[in-house]
Amino acid sequence: MIKSKRNLPNLPYFYSLIDWKLPIFSRRKSATLKAQTIEDLAHAAKKRVPKVVFDYVAGSALDEIGYSRAQDAIRRVQFNARILRDVSEVDPSETIFGSKVDLPIVFAPTGYTRLMHHVGEPAVAAAATKNNLIYSLSTMGTTSPQELADAVPHSRRWFQLYVMKNREDSKAIIKQARESGFEALILTVDTTVGGIRLRDLRNGLTIPPRIRLSTVFAIARKPIWWLNLFTTKKLEFAAFRGWNKSLLELSNTIYSPSISFEDIKWLQSEWDGPIIVKGVLNVDDAKILAELGVQGLVLSSHGSRQLDRGLVPIEILPEVVKAVGDKMDIYIDGSFLSGQDVYAAIALGAKAVFVGRAYLYGVMADGERGVEKVIELMRRDFVNTMALTGNRNLTEVRETGAVLRGKN
Ligand SMILES: Cc1cc2nc3c(=O)[nH]c(=O)nc-3n(C[C@H](O)[C@H](O)[C@H](O)COP(=O)(O)O)c2cc1C
Repeated sequence: MIKSKRNLPNLPYFYSLIDWKLPIFSRRKSATLKAQTIEDLAHAAKKRVPKVVFDYVAGSALDEIGYSRAQDAIRRVQFNARILRDVSEVDPSETIFGSKVDLPIVFAPTGYTRLMHHVGEPAVAAAATKNNLIYSLSTMGTTSPQELADAVPHSRRWFQLYVMKNREDSKAIIKQARESGFEALILTVDTTVGGIRLRDLRNGLTIPPRIRLSTVFAIARKPIWWLNLFTTKKLEFAAFRGWNKSLLELSNTIYSPSISFEDIKWLQSEWDGPIIVKGVLNVDDAKILAELGVQGLVLSSHGSRQLDRGLVPIEILPEVVKAVGDKMDIYIDGSFLSGQDVYAAIALGAKAVFVGRAYLYGVMADGERGVEKVIELMRRDFVNTMALTGNRNLTEVRETGAVLRGKN
C-alpha cells in the first residue's frame, strides 16, 4: 500500500490558506452574495416580502400553464456549438437604436415596483444603468417619469404605454415621457381586458394594501417590509398623480378594449422616437406592424399574466425573425431566468430579451444590490455559454444558432 510521507505542520502554508475577510453579518446581503441562480434570489425574496406581494410577482393567469410551458420550451432549446475558435475575447454587447448595451437584455416594464421594494423603480434603473442596460418604466409605475429621470439622470430609459379609453389621457402620459427624456415608447397591446390572476384574487390583493385584522399577523411576519411601507412616500400610480380617481376607475380608464392598428398610426403621429409593440403572438400581426413601420416588437404573453394558453413566444420566434427580422428589432420575453435562457433566444434570432420577474426577484430580495446580482448571474452564464459554443459576438451566436427540440 502506498503511504504518504508526513512532515511537521507547515505553518506558513496553513496561514496562507486562511481567508481573512470579515464575515458578513447581514443575512440579506449574505444571501445575495451567495446566490448562484435567480431561483436562489427568488427563494430569498420569498422571505423578505409578504406572500401577497411575492404571489403578485410570481403568479400568472388562470391555470398558470402558459408560464411553465414557456419555461419548458426555453429549456428545450439546444445550442449548436463550434470548436477550435479563439474565444479568449468574448463580447456579449448589442447595439440598440444606435447605442451599445453590455448584454442583450432589457428591463421589462413592471407595475407597482415600490410594492416589491420601497426604493422601487429608481433602484432597478440604477442597477441597469451601472451595467449599461436599458430600463423600461411602466405606465403603472410607482415612480413618475420625471422622478425616474431625476433619480437616475444618465439612464437609458424607455416608457411603456397603454392606449387608454380616452386618447387625451394617453397624450398626457406621452407628454410626461417626452419631457422626461425617454428614448422609446413600448406600446403594450395584450391588455384589452385584465388577466384573471387567481393567486391575487385568493390573496385579496389591493394597491395600496388594505389593513385588515390579518394584516397584523402579516406585519409580525415581515416587519421590515411593512416598516418601509409606512416610513417612505405613499404608494401610488405616480403617472396619474392628481387625477383623483380610484384604483377601479383608473383600471377602467387604462385598459382599452377598442384598441386597433389605427391606434399605432395615431401613436406614430404623436411620438417621433422609436415605437416597440409589446404583446405580439402571431406572425401575420408582425407583418402588419412591419408594414406600418414600427421599430420593434416584443413576442410576449405578458409573462403569461394575461392570456394563459397562447402560443409560446420562443416557439414562434424563428418564424417571426424570418418574416420581419430584417425590417425591425425582434424582442422576446416570458420565463427567461438565466443567461442560458437568454442565449437560447439570441441564438434563435432575437435582438434582446426583456426580463421581468428575474429582476423583480432581485429587487425583492435585496433592492439595488439584488438587481445587480441578477445582472451578474445572467452575464456570467451568458458569457460562459458564448465561450463554450465558440462564439465571440452576438452575430456569431445567431449564425451558430440553436434548435428547439421536442414538444410541449
Ligand atoms: C409584477 C409584474 C408587473 C407587470 N406590469 C407590467 C406593466 O405594467 N406593463 C407591461 O407592459 N407589462 C407588465 N408586465 C409584464 C412584463 O413587462 C413582461 O412582459 C413579463 O414580466 C415577462 O415575463 P417574465 O416576468 O417571466 O420575465 C408585468 C410583469 C410582472 C411580473
